[in-house]
Amino acid sequence: MSYSRIIGTGGYLPEKILSNEDLERMVDTSDQWILERTGIRTRHLASENQGTCDLAEKAAVLALTAAGIAASELDLIIVATTTPDRIFPSTACLLQARLGNHGAIAFDVQAVCSGFIYALSIADKFIKTGTVRHALVIGAETFSRLLDWTDRNTCVLFGDGAGAVVLKASEEPGILSTHLHADGSYKDMLTVPATVEQGRLKGDGFVKMHGHDVFKFAVKSLDRIVKEILATNQLDENAIDWLIPHQANIRIIKATAKRLKLPMEKVVVTVSEHGNTSAASVPLALDVAVRDGRIQRDHTLLLEAVGGGFTWGAVLVKY
Ligand code: ACO
Repeated sequence: MSYSRIIGTGGYLPEKILSNEDLERMVDTSDQWILERTGIRTRHLASENQGTCDLAEKAAVLALTAAGIAASELDLIIVATTTPDRIFPSTACLLQARLGNHGAIAFDVQAVCSGFIYALSIADKFIKTGTVRHALVIGAETFSRLLDWTDRNTCVLFGDGAGAVVLKASEEPGILSTHLHADGSYKDMLTVPATVEQGRLKGDGFVKMHGHDVFKFAVKSLDRIVKEILATNQLDENAIDWLIPHQANIRIIKATAKRLKLPMEKVVVTVSEHGNTSAASVPLALDVAVRDGRIQRDHTLLLEAVGGGFTWGAVLVKY
């Protein structure tokens, strides 16, 4: 049976940087409050004329270059996003056209901050069944477009960006196991409740969040998922070379590392400069640590995320 092996990664952050000091001038907040509660110093924002597909394309091109394959060789393109450029077609189809690929399977996955973990798991299934040889899996978001810039509870937390991986069917390990969960009864804990009807936005189009409940849920579900993945693979925490967590909040990341008894030196942290980029956060962090040389071939990686839905999941990878 084939494994899905990561053969290239890419990441892109828009040029514009919004600092905590900038936010101090916009809402009643402080650099100290944001830093202490979240670990975030800066986040990147897409410019007015940049859409999610623009960000995804930049990350995709870098991942394809690192993989050494052409876009025409892709059999599958999945974009995980909460902020698609259009209601339809999917951002994956828009990206496919940009990349000049014709005929690959292409679709979006909507699992908010867990979207990339969901998309990676789905791509892995396609590869394992022999349907697909090369897959491009992307997390891309222009989450800033969903923010109410007068709401200090949410606007300080998020940023924009895109991260990508290219997977290839291989006899050598690769993705070892994937674990996904959701519980829709938590639908109102983190949501954008609006819909489009008769050509107009109906309802509130901004992010609504019960931050404290999200925090508690995230810590609990991540604790369960990392234990589940280790137990399934009969591994203990010493087998993990790198934890690549969803970058929502440094306190959530530290809590997961502590439960895993992993020193923070083994955790890839980008939240301070990226903020929470939703579905883009895990592949962006992966790309950073691959490119700076921390992640090496044969390292064992634990990727995890939790997000709106609520959804949560983890992927164990032999890199
Ligand atoms: N600046 C200053 N004060 C603020 C700000 C702000 N930006 N935001 C909220 N506050 C105030 C609140 O109004 C509250 O004031 P009050 O006591 O007068 O009512 C006070 O700070 C404390 O609020 P808490 O909610 O208790 O603060 P907490 O320590 O829980 O931190 C935070 C809030 C950072 C939102 C935290 O709950 C959190 O990170 N939750 C997870 C949210 C998250 O990660 N969401 C992302 C999507 S889901 C995911 O990715 C996992």
